[in-house]
Amino acid sequence: MSQQYPQTALITGANSGLGYAIAQALAQAGWRIGLVARDPRRGQMALERISAATGNGALALFIADLASQAQVRALAESVLDRFAALHLLVNNAATAFRQRRLSPEGIECALAVNHLAPFLLTLLLLDRLKASAPAQIINIGTRIDTALDLADWNWEQRPYRMLAAYGQAKLGMLHVTFELARRLEGTGVRVNCVFPGVFRSNLGRTDGAQGFFWRAVDRLIGWALPTPGQAARGVMRLILDPALQINGAYLENGRPIPAPVQARDPQMNQRIWELSLRLTGLQ
Ligand SMILES: NC(=O)c1ccc[n+]([C@@H]2O[C@H](COP(=O)([O-])OP(=O)(O)OC[C@H]3O[C@@H](n4cnc5c(N)ncnc54)[C@H](OP(=O)(O)O)[C@@H]3O)[C@@H](O)[C@H]2O)c1
Repeated sequence: MSQQYPQTALITGANSGLGYAIAQALAQAGWRIGLVARDPRRGQMALERISAATGNGALALFIADLASQAQVRALAESVLDRFAALHLLVNNAATAFRQRRLSPEGIECALAVNHLAPFLLTLLLLDRLKASAPAQIINIGTRIDTALDLADWNWEQRPYRMLAAYGQAKLGMLHVTFELARRLEGTGVRVNCVFPGVFRSNLGRTDGAQGFFWRAVDRLIGWALPTPGQAARGVMRLILDPALQINGAYLENGRPIPAPVQARDPQMNQRIWELSLRLTGLQ
């Protein structure tokens, strides 16, 4: 662990829900934190609330719409400028869209935000994480049993379905988590994917994408669901528990859970890694 700097983390989607709860818990534990938000006002409000609640003055706000790869690249540059060390990257931001929408690069937006943005951000920050080792990357996943359609990853041939597109993008993230873990062996940097459970969420609301599914969940069982603060405990365990020195795992509450069949195939992991390199202009 670098003695020169306090522990430093970057959290995407830190203005709301799970990302906010993780940022608050880390701020309470005295970490220096970069909060990534797409809306300056929502981001600033979150920063001020966390700072007031925890007394932590080492909070920095970064603004980026993760649908845009140009903005992801600018975000990485500005993080590298401001943070000489980086010990933790939490790729938490995600969303869902009721209708197919394209990113500035012409990529279906759920895939762009939920998979390609964290992939690109991680690779652009990887040397800094390695130089700060021991360090870790936590990808926030979901638990939808699906397979990524390599022949139609951009939803040009099939009718668009919000939950399927969300699930496939999250599966892309799981594939590259497994591939990156193999590549990181021996570097002092670990990467895992965490399913935080189902909890009260704003997911998709700001995009007007809160379709029937989320409204129904909200109305029927919303009151009974855990809060984002409760959901953050599983993630905090992975960050703070020295006994959990795990790499390349898919976890819920610190325990491995089975991945969808397609993600257990290392050759598929590698094919999706290569597709992701191509789609982010890294290859
Ligand atoms: N809630 C659940 O039951 C559940 C279950 C499984 C997994 N998860 C995962 O948990 C994570 C957090 O979700 P949550 O429930 O806490 O939802 P949330 O409150 O809506 O938080 C999502 C965050 O992502 C940000 N975001 C969305 N699109 C963005 C974009 N284009 N650029 C930058 N930031 C963007 C949102 O910003 P805005 O506030 O500006 O929209 C928000 O800060 C997600 O990865 C989700 O897939 C949630």
